[in-house]
Amino acid sequence: MSTLDKEYLNMESFTVQIEEQDKAGTNKNNDEQNTADTNKNDEVHEKADTNKNDEVQDKAGMNKNDEEQNTAGTNKINDEQNTADTNKNDEKTEIDDNLLIDIVPQILSTATTFSSYPSDLHSIDKVISDLQPEIPLYCIRPKVIESAANLFVSSFPGRVLYAAKCNTDPYILQMLWQGGIRHFDCASLGEIELIYRHFPLGKIHFMHPLKTKNSIRKAYFDYGIRDFSLDSIEELNKIIEATASGSDLGLFIRVELPKGIALHDLSGKYGASVIESINILRQARPIAKQLGICFHVGSQCLEPQCYEHAFAIVSDIISQANVKIDVIDAGGGFPASYPGSIPPSLDLFFLAIKRGFDALNLPEGALLWCEPGRALVSAACSLVVKVMARKNHTLYINDGIYGNLADAGPLLDWRFPVRLVRPDQLSTTKTDEEKNFTFYGPTCDSLDFMDGPFVLPNDVKVDDYIEIGQFGAYNSAFRTSFNGFGETMTALVNDDPLMITPGY
Ligand SMILES: Cc1ncc(COP(=O)(O)O)c(C=O)c1O
Repeated sequence: MSTLDKEYLNMESFTVQIEEQDKAGTNKNNDEQNTADTNKNDEVHEKADTNKNDEVQDKAGMNKNDEEQNTAGTNKINDEQNTADTNKNDEKTEIDDNLLIDIVPQILSTATTFSSYPSDLHSIDKVISDLQPEIPLYCIRPKVIESAANLFVSSFPGRVLYAAKCNTDPYILQMLWQGGIRHFDCASLGEIELIYRHFPLGKIHFMHPLKTKNSIRKAYFDYGIRDFSLDSIEELNKIIEATASGSDLGLFIRVELPKGIALHDLSGKYGASVIESINILRQARPIAKQLGICFHVGSQCLEPQCYEHAFAIVSDIISQANVKIDVIDAGGGFPASYPGSIPPSLDLFFLAIKRGFDALNLPEGALLWCEPGRALVSAACSLVVKVMARKNHTLYINDGIYGNLADAGPLLDWRFPVRLVRPDQLSTTKTDEEKNFTFYGPTCDSLDFMDGPFVLPNDVKVDDYIEIGQFGAYNSAFRTSFNGFGETMTALVNDDPLMITPGY
């Protein structure tokens, strides 16, 4: 293996490192997590809402889902859990072995461990110049993820759950953990299994309001998950049945919000109306150990006041329902910077949420949570694509809407910052003139089009590379292999993000 491979580390080698560490069970990874856990968590809980219940719950969370499972119920349940765990470990070993066939040489020669990122990371320009990649290159900035997580966890006035759907790249997950993230909002069994495998000490919350009975059952009995969101009486009954009337449930009623001004609207699909919420809260209260209300203002929300409006709706529901509420979960929606979409400082969002929460006048011990995705990971990643052809101001690039660039396509028309990267600066005439460009992706489909505009020097040409920034949220999660494309390399880099989000 070349030095380059060692330095830039592709995705597979990291994945296998995690698998390897997981396989060893109570190994380095766990020890590191334990240490990080103790250090960071202490800090987090001193700063964040030093609420007794919170601490108690966090300790329970930190003491591993397994422990919750052990104390959760009868011997029968424990037996089931043990069997399930054993099966899972067996499965894991099989997967590891398969992966190892191809990747062992890379693991053996990879000096980097998961406890930290290498200190000698390179710039994107150097990586491009050295590798001259023919396939898209996903660049991760470890320091940026760690500090974003750290800032969120220390500044948000409550508990921070990472919305796993946003990006489940194993390296990103690990850096979030190093930044102090210990709680995960998962939407499916797939996400739950993934997070559990990486972080057996983390605490998972199943926050999709619509679930299959089987996924609730597995979440509760196999993974020790206690918190579930719901937006209907049918879902409440499903949870009761699937958990065999669990006596330790956290039930979070997802409240419907009117269409807001967030760039990516999430109203309409999930959420109970005011009347329905009141009814569900009353029926859930006698069953729930912890009763919560959650909402989502929409992703890339640019106005802190949107959260205050949401709290006003929650306030109305609580006063009409007249039941004790233990937790308010303000969801995600926290913005990052994109061209034409520069948000106010993150602190203003936190302030608005704190004001809204305080105005509820909930009983002593009530908790505040949030579920950020985008704001934690957006700036941490870039995608580098190669120009395959140019026709006027349209560039044909080696990635597109069926690959890593779904959000830039016709569905969302999301705008991203771009930067020209030339491996051989000397061979080109520099020009300061910039123009708006559109992109076509590599597939046969003419829908594979990105309107941008992407602002680039006018002399951009075939074989140039383009860094597309603010790329950590969602994009790579949608990647397909349509038309045989989709293969992507991954490198760790030390550049600053292409845009700075106020408050970071
Ligand atoms: C329930 C829930 N929580 C959190 C998030 C994360 O949202 P964001 O990335 O806007 O912070 C989402 C995103 O769709 C969501 O559906």
